[in-house]
Amino acid sequence: MNYNLFDSFQLGSNTLANRIVMAPMTRLRADGTIPTQLMAEYYAQRVNAGLIVTECTMISPLSQGYMNVPGVYNDEQVAGWKLVTDSVHNAGGKIFLQIWHSGRVSHSALLDGEKPIAPSAIAGKGQLHTPIGKVDLETPRALETSEIPEIVEQFRDCAVNAKQAGFDGIELHGAFGYLIDQFLQDGSNQRGDKYGGSIENRARFLLEVVEAVTQVWGGDCVGIKLSPSNTFYGMFDSDPKATFGYVIKELNSFNLAYIHLMEANEVDLSTRDVINPVLPVFRPLYEGNIITNGGHNKETGNKAIASGNAELVSYGKPYLANPDLVTRFKQDAELNEPNPKTFYGRGDTEDAKIGYTDYPFLEKSLLF
Ligand SMILES: Cc1cc2nc3c(=O)[nH]c(=O)nc-3n(C[C@H](O)[C@H](O)[C@H](O)COP(=O)(O)O)c2cc1C
Repeated sequence: MNYNLFDSFQLGSNTLANRIVMAPMTRLRADGTIPTQLMAEYYAQRVNAGLIVTECTMISPLSQGYMNVPGVYNDEQVAGWKLVTDSVHNAGGKIFLQIWHSGRVSHSALLDGEKPIAPSAIAGKGQLHTPIGKVDLETPRALETSEIPEIVEQFRDCAVNAKQAGFDGIELHGAFGYLIDQFLQDGSNQRGDKYGGSIENRARFLLEVVEAVTQVWGGDCVGIKLSPSNTFYGMFDSDPKATFGYVIKELNSFNLAYIHLMEANEVDLSTRDVINPVLPVFRPLYEGNIITNGGHNKETGNKAIASGNAELVSYGKPYLANPDLVTRFKQDAELNEPNPKTFYGRGDTEDAKIGYTDYPFLEKSLLF
């Protein structure tokens, strides 16, 4: 049978109305670290997706990489997320929470004066907005071996909190150069203990986190995002095929909801000779569901599903700008263009809705 984007899908215990996923996107419009009613409105507008994955969400104060990014480590944050899950569920949708630790992608100006933490004391490349202005990523402090189980426990606790907040599942952010990715790749991990060195050792942190959160949710409500070709924040691995191949094979035993696999983007392709395309290299290694992501349109999404290389397709920027993306795809309607100037907000301000909840829906007349 030849499936397409509009066919329903059984994702573990969640039945999805279609195979179109809204990719996780940081929008920096939280009230400090607390999700707001406006965020609930934004996600509910996009409820036509078979599955929504939220923006990355902090598991602890030290996991912060940006201002006005939400957390899920205290009761107020959980109550804020409840507004979001209630509004998505009332509109008939499904929503997973992306949980995240930024690791070295941070600065003491965001961390109450504490140094960012990472597998090794190697600074990432790039700059961040902080309360003291735009600054270079700071050289992090290498975690002691004895500190690592605490961070695994923070992921576990936040998986519990996500359940209390009413989510349908969680996605671990293992991509884009943040803490889990920093442990995995040898450009950022030069530890000499059981969390560094061999691929098995570098993958240990990721697999321990997966083990912890699947104990809370069961495998079938947990996904993980991976980006084998991403070069952001100076990420690098000497043998990404072997590193990610090992991890993806190991993930087979957890019966996860999915692996969310990012393709290389233009910056990656212009930085280094990265794996491209990603999907055909890793598909043969994974027995479960794959969400393919990165630069897809309706046609490439349908092709990925028809080829059997992916079960689901996620859309980032197209969803950001088109709350009714599924309808537009169905009708081959024109898409709104995303405006990068308003991708990131400055918290719960008067103008937070600009470029957020004000992208137009198709005219009603076009719907019939
Ligand atoms: C504004 C913006 C914020 C993003 N924030 C996140 C994030 O919080 N977590 C994440 O895993 N990816 C994040 N991404 C990456 C997207 O999930 C996706 O991988 C990327 O945009 C490629 O998909 P696309 O070509 O369909 O946009 C972000 C992308 C954008 C444009």
